[in-house]
Amino acid sequence: MRKDWFENKIENFLKISGYKKPEKYSNAIKLDSNENYAISPDFFQDLINETKERMDVREYPLGGTERLVKAISEYIKIPTEMIGVGNGSDQIIDLILGNFASKETKILTSEPSFGFFEERCKLYSIPTIKIPFDEDMSLNMEKFLSHSKKANLLYLDSPNNPTGFQFQRNQLEKIIQEFPGLVVIDEAYVEFSDYSVVDITRKMNNLIVLRTLSKSFGLAGLRIGYFVANKKTVDAFTRVIQYPYPLNTVAIEVGIIALRKSKYFSDMAELVRKERTRIIAKLRAMKVFKVFDSKANFVLFAAAGASQRIHKALIEQGIVIKNLGKIGRNEGCLRVTVGSQEMNSRFLTAIRDLLN
Ligand SMILES: Cc1ncc(COP(=O)(O)O)c(C=O)c1O
Repeated sequence: MRKDWFENKIENFLKISGYKKPEKYSNAIKLDSNENYAISPDFFQDLINETKERMDVREYPLGGTERLVKAISEYIKIPTEMIGVGNGSDQIIDLILGNFASKETKILTSEPSFGFFEERCKLYSIPTIKIPFDEDMSLNMEKFLSHSKKANLLYLDSPNNPTGFQFQRNQLEKIIQEFPGLVVIDEAYVEFSDYSVVDITRKMNNLIVLRTLSKSFGLAGLRIGYFVANKKTVDAFTRVIQYPYPLNTVAIEVGIIALRKSKYFSDMAELVRKERTRIIAKLRAMKVFKVFDSKANFVLFAAAGASQRIHKALIEQGIVIKNLGKIGRNEGCLRVTVGSQEMNSRFLTAIRDLLN
């Protein structure tokens, strides 16, 4: 009897697909995961060397996350009491869903939305109301708000992964203000976009804004996520919900130094934005794709029936992009990360040659 219970549980887990990690190709130009290759590996090597003296990895990182929170606070100009951290924003999403949502609560979100978030909702059997993107890959605010009374929690990634869409600030403000439950705005790509809503956490007690050092700071491998919310929420999260030591010593120390050099990273984000404009213009000039605007460090384009062939042919040339298939009415969607200038040029040349 007790054994059956356990086996059934496992069988149920196995029915869920789980978050599918990207495939690893050696020596490939990796433009499939929205990482930040605009920053050179040498820069990080120096940064890691700078931190070495401060570390004693025999010890638990006591006081470490507090120092990291202080550095985040100086970067975003929000008091430390309103900031919490996590092992990547993935882990913060997981803890929010595991502790604030359940089979009995409904989540309002977009279709599509961040893949890990969607998979986590399936794991916890949390029902979702998904508002699909329109054909031009924009979201309709009225449609969103019309469902708000039926849901307890709202999750939006702003800008959205994988479309690159971001609401106008006044529209997002309206959504936040009118939604009656918990609002989670995931700003993983915010440094590449036009605005942040982090300041609204000062007046709205039901708002959690998620951020990460994985994208504009290029530290995806260190798994440093954080969030901003009202003091009580942060206190409950940090003292009770979160692990005592969610981040390791190396991540903490490198994160602190990176945040102190935030001017360099914002210059790099500016470079990514310029490259994004170039990629969009060049892809549009090829006149075969539907290329969508983007406020993030990636570009989504629909290649209809040619998408599989393009995706495969690029891999054969050592360039990996993300094959997403149909999104709404758009068939054959592909997402390319904005990489270094050289990577982007290699991608654009390869795709142009494929079309000739
Ligand atoms: C919208 C969004 N949120 C969160 C994450 C994950 O961030 P982290 O590396 O901090 O877990 C990603 C990563 O691709 C993302 O696209």
